[in-house]
Amino acid sequence: MNLADLNTIARAMVAPGKGILAADESSGTIKKRFDVIGVESTETSRRDYREMMFRSKEAMSQYISGVILYDETIWQNAADGTPLVKLIEQAGSIPGIKVDEGTQPLPNCPGELITVGLDKLAERLAKYYKQGARFAKWRAVIDIDSASGVPTHTAIMTNAHALARYAALCQQAQIVPIVEPEVLMDGAHDIDTCYNVTEWVLKETFQQLYFQRVALEGMILKPNMAIAGKKSAKKAGVEEVAEKTVKLLKSCVPSAVPGIAFLSGGQSDEEATAHLDAMNKIGGLTSGLPWGLTFSYGRALQAAPQKAWSGKADNIAAGQAAFTHRAKMNSLASKGEWTTALESKKAA
Ligand code: 13P
Repeated sequence: MNLADLNTIARAMVAPGKGILAADESSGTIKKRFDVIGVESTETSRRDYREMMFRSKEAMSQYISGVILYDETIWQNAADGTPLVKLIEQAGSIPGIKVDEGTQPLPNCPGELITVGLDKLAERLAKYYKQGARFAKWRAVIDIDSASGVPTHTAIMTNAHALARYAALCQQAQIVPIVEPEVLMDGAHDIDTCYNVTEWVLKETFQQLYFQRVALEGMILKPNMAIAGKKSAKKAGVEEVAEKTVKLLKSCVPSAVPGIAFLSGGQSDEEATAHLDAMNKIGGLTSGLPWGLTFSYGRALQAAPQKAWSGKADNIAAGQAAFTHRAKMNSLASKGEWTTALESKKAA
């Protein structure tokens, strides 16, 4: 492992004003997204959609530091035969790859999941590196259902262990691991419950990373924010989410980690931007947070372009404008420079 090179990539992923596009929806998930806009999900439509984003010059060169791809996409060519990976690189962005293989029920823990995909991961990572991937992603999923005792320590520990094994294998393959332990916001829990569970999950995750000798300087953390569940009667305001998330991360994430790139997790586009902005306004690059705080959004970057594109070649420019706008808003938020008023000034 060359840690200096891993650190250079990790820092580029969270460079000021830049963040990550999570375009790694599995074929099943992208079908659900396409169903919403009435587009049939085929290999070609998935390619066309992603090519549209990767050819958004302003967004890709100025706001998007890296793109997380799904296995199908990393091998695909654009309509003119250029590999999609090359389009990303030519724009000055870094290709990455989702390497987990989804979730399975965790034995003895009803309702809980374990992320799978460690078997043969070393071989897969070597192939992805050759194809241009310089970072990877593995997502663990932790649900909250206090009434039934979820999450259990078993689920948290087992998923943290898998995350750390994945991260060690990535670094050995000279690939920066994005470590993503996602505490879901699907439940009815309040923000403090989310805070407590996320604290537990992050403590366990960093313990496992230590046990498995992962170099923190060569990884990126992708956490959820401290936020109330979608079904909670008590929705927390933007300032509360920002303050609690910053406090939580300060107490759990060692300063050797170069950057933190949040998932959006089902927040609306503007909420995800407002929360990131508020955190950077509190923390600020100049006020001593030890790591960069940016975005690694899937839904919150893509809902608008998906709708604007709606599968029609005539709408490519509109889709790119919508994508560029969201990328720019989140870029500003990553510097604490976003305002609601900017939302109405759509990109040309
Ligand atoms: P969302 O931003 O839609 O949560 O997706 C990010 C991601 O990569 C989840 O693994």
